[in-house]
Amino acid sequence: MINLNNKIIVITGGNGFLGSEMVREAKQAGATVVSADIVSKKENGVDQFTGDLTEPDTVKALIDYVIEKYGKIDGWVNNAYPRTDDWGSKLPDVSYDSWKSNVDMHMNSYFLCCQQVLEKMKQQGSGSVVNLASIYGFLGADFSLYEGTSMTMPAAYSAIKGGIINLTRYLTSYYGKSGLRINTISPGGIYDNQPEIFVDRYNNKCPTGRMGDKNEIARATNYLLSDYSSYVNGHNLVVDGGWSVI
Ligand SMILES: NC(=O)c1ccc[n+]([C@@H]2O[C@H](COP(=O)([O-])OP(=O)(O)OC[C@H]3O[C@@H](n4cnc5c(N)ncnc54)[C@H](O)[C@@H]3O)[C@@H](O)[C@H]2O)c1
Repeated sequence: MINLNNKIIVITGGNGFLGSEMVREAKQAGATVVSADIVSKKENGVDQFTGDLTEPDTVKALIDYVIEKYGKIDGWVNNAYPRTDDWGSKLPDVSYDSWKSNVDMHMNSYFLCCQQVLEKMKQQGSGSVVNLASIYGFLGADFSLYEGTSMTMPAAYSAIKGGIINLTRYLTSYYGKSGLRINTISPGGIYDNQPEIFVDRYNNKCPTGRMGDKNEIARATNYLLSDYSSYVNGHNLVVDGGWSVI
């Protein structure tokens, strides 16, 4: 069984849909977890840091808080999902300001967190960073799935997640010899009460015949945070039930 005993793990967006499952799963594997989110939540046994991680000073404050309290950071998961209120608009309706804000808040905050935490981990000589990407960071969107629903796949999402996948590769080549590992996880569609018509189409297309469960992403995250993945570096771990192979 994957063991995160004695590890100090920070999970950004740790109070969201996937993040809260990651927090639970990492705790269950023995880690001490700090959930860092713009929204606060009371939860027994989970250390909460509340702040906006698109702000450089807040990222620094989070790192200082964890180092001061625990003395080290073994793992960091960039999982937060900042987005504008008009997120999900159809492509012709996306204003240039909205595009820039989303790239800035999402991709650039992952850069900020990576830049700051990896320098701390370099001083320690060890650490694992996991960046949440998506199958839509390396595949075009299948718009036929969304017909008859209000759902779509924003163009900025593809650009942001593609950027995060390749930033991860860059960071691995930069920091690998310092004993650090940086990987991405690219989930496929995770079931979250989407419209039935969408779910049916998704299940039909997916080789495994179903959408993913949030716990399947949390277990993959635990693997990359753990020493079981000690020779996995710069990898994009695709957790999509085979969606992307056809
Ligand atoms: N849910 C999926 O099916 C799916 C699929 C592929 C990839 N992903 C990726 O997984 C990650 C998590 O997605 P989710 O579905 O759990 O999203 P979510 O919206 O449920 O959770 C995101 C969390 O991030 C927090 N957050 C937003 N802005 C923040 C900020 N500025 N600073 C700090 N925290 C902030 C939110 O408060 C929230 O708790 C995202 O990166 C997303 O792109 C999700």
